[in-house]
Amino acid sequence: MTEPTPHGDRQVDATSTAEERELEAALRPKNLDEFVGQPRVRQQLSLVLQASQLRQAPAEHVLLSGPPGLGKTTLAMIIAQEMNAPLRISSGPAIQHAGDLAAILSSLTEGEVLFLDEIHRISRTAEEMLYMAMEDFRVDIIVGKGAGATAIPLELPPFTLVGATTRAGLLQGPLRDRFGFTGHLEFYDVDELVLVLRRSAMMLDLRLSPDAFVEIASRSRGTPRIANRLLRRVRDWALVHQIHTIDVAAAQAALDMYEVDERGLDRLDRAVLEALCLKFGGGPVGLSTLAIAVGEEVETVETVAEPYLVREGLLGRTPRGRVATAAAWEHLGLRAPDDAQQGQRMSTRNVSDQSGANPDQDNPETPLW
Ligand SMILES: Nc1ncnc2c1ncn2[C@@H]1O[C@H](COP(=O)(O)OP(=O)(O)O)[C@@H](O)[C@H]1O
Ligand SMILES: [Mg+2]
Repeated sequence: MTEPTPHGDRQVDATSTAEERELEAALRPKNLDEFVGQPRVRQQLSLVLQASQLRQAPAEHVLLSGPPGLGKTTLAMIIAQEMNAPLRISSGPAIQHAGDLAAILSSLTEGEVLFLDEIHRISRTAEEMLYMAMEDFRVDIIVGKGAGATAIPLELPPFTLVGATTRAGLLQGPLRDRFGFTGHLEFYDVDELVLVLRRSAMMLDLRLSPDAFVEIASRSRGTPRIANRLLRRVRDWALVHQIHTIDVAAAQAALDMYEVDERGLDRLDRAVLEALCLKFGGGPVGLSTLAIAVGEEVETVETVAEPYLVREGLLGRTPRGRVATAAAWEHLGLRAPDDAQQGQRMSTRNVSDQSGANPDQDNPETPLW
């Protein structure tokens, strides 16, 4: 049976549902040593934490940025754990008014870690309150309305704010500047995902051959959350087929059944590439036309399928529309028309020269991952 994901039955979506978060919690690394990959962020963070322990003061505020599923929430929890501090969790969307934030801040205890997920979505008034709280450990509580309103200053105990965002570019400068340390999480390579999977398999009591781990890792789009999800799908498959040691053939069969191909593309991703190559000769074609051709909303194609296709170098965005790259033709097992290859060389150059200059209702804010 298929676990629901935010985009229907999409196994390769990098975000998670409430149901899935419980499964994830069990697999979360508990300390920095267990946290796989991201060597730079790990080292830097470790230094920040050690220094705070030596100073016997709460760590500086930490901002974690990067695409969904790479370990931001996990790291926030590790920070609290490593500092032996209690953790309070909230998120930008949950803080609609300055009062919501004031209530949280005024109940913090000394040294507590406050994790604000999706911090770029916090309201403006709350954001301004946060500036002062981060810098001076102080807030002004406004009492009354209109001419009679007065600001009552309130001292806060020193705390550590850990903010997480998938859109660091959307953060206001003054907010970004108040973080002592920013860690940017990168996609994981296959070797690192194999380590994530080995750890998860051990915790789930699963036996896999080494090449089965590599097979799952290669289909996981550089994202631990997807790797763990695919592992659960393979586990289900093995259970039903009564396979005790999962070899590469079993992993392939399971993932093929869920229509996740050897590069981590799913049905929608492939439909987009196939339409682009087979219906439009490799493009360029406008995004809206492409969306109609695959029977999806423009937004779905743009935000769900396209970022990974672009990241993988399978699809290019040019001022004249979307184009398939030579790698896309190859991935579909098709031969690129000779003139298309010529066109693609041009288009690829256009992508880097004029990124964002896309007339096809393109949102330049849309990240390319
Ligand atoms: N570096 C890592 N090592 C091991 N597991 C990881 C790592 N990063 C993420 N995970 C796993 O992936 C899942 C998603 O991680 P999470 O921290 O929730 O991502 P984010 O908050 O960035 O969306 C969790 O189940 C976590 O256990
Ligand atoms: Mg998270």
